[in-house]
Amino acid sequence: MSRKKIIAGNWKMNMTPTEAVQLVETLKPLVVNEDVDVVFCVPAIDIIPVVEACKGTNIQVGAENMYFEDKGAYTGEIAPAMLVDAGVKYVIIGHSERREYFAETDETVNKKVQKAFEYGLTPIICCGESLTQREQGITIDWIRQQIKIAFLNVSAENAAKAVIAYEPIWAIGTGKVATTEQAQEVCCAIRACIAEIYDDATAAAIRIQYGGSVSASSAPELFAQADIDGGLVGGASLKPDFGKIVNYNK
Ligand code: PGA
Repeated sequence: MSRKKIIAGNWKMNMTPTEAVQLVETLKPLVVNEDVDVVFCVPAIDIIPVVEACKGTNIQVGAENMYFEDKGAYTGEIAPAMLVDAGVKYVIIGHSERREYFAETDETVNKKVQKAFEYGLTPIICCGESLTQREQGITIDWIRQQIKIAFLNVSAENAAKAVIAYEPIWAIGTGKVATTEQAQEVCCAIRACIAEIYDDATAAAIRIQYGGSVSASSAPELFAQADIDGGLVGGASLKPDFGKIVNYNK
């Protein structure tokens, strides 16, 4: 089964609404590639102007986070229905920065994943090990645990539609990209874990991204790996270089 590549930008806490629209205008002509699903995951306040600016293009808009309740007294949070109404299709769940700075756990990730599917949003579920964990030799065990908890009570039908982003924490924003062998090894293990939880068809359908210092120069080799179906791109997604990453195969 051939999986369509998915390359998503994660803008993090960058770009005012005005800057966001300017960036979309700059990137719009550069990110055209019919072989790739292109997603811009943007700060909540940028979503509405970015959805508007992306109308008529191949770009889909994603959120960087959402809450796991439908609505109510959760000051400062964003509900899934708000994202859907604003035209959002994807939502990053459990990015390592959210786990580290905002106390997200595998359990809250699981609640958010279930909620995203309830609303027809596609979650981009993040996992990844620290440098210490890699040095301790527990990378695969750790990732398998993150994946198993993230997918608790998620049907095979929904799981097949999910996107997983494998992002070694030591590679994020450091310029230290994982080797293609390291990235492929973990992405392959994630797919095997999905096959164990569900079945081979679900494992064959699910898309697994690599993230962590992806650049125009590292993208072609990474995305050519058997189990790497694209990337989640931070720093380089804010620059014209993102066009080169999206067109890694041209
Ligand atoms: P980076 O970020 O590409 O800047 O390393 C990736 C991410 O955190 O999603």
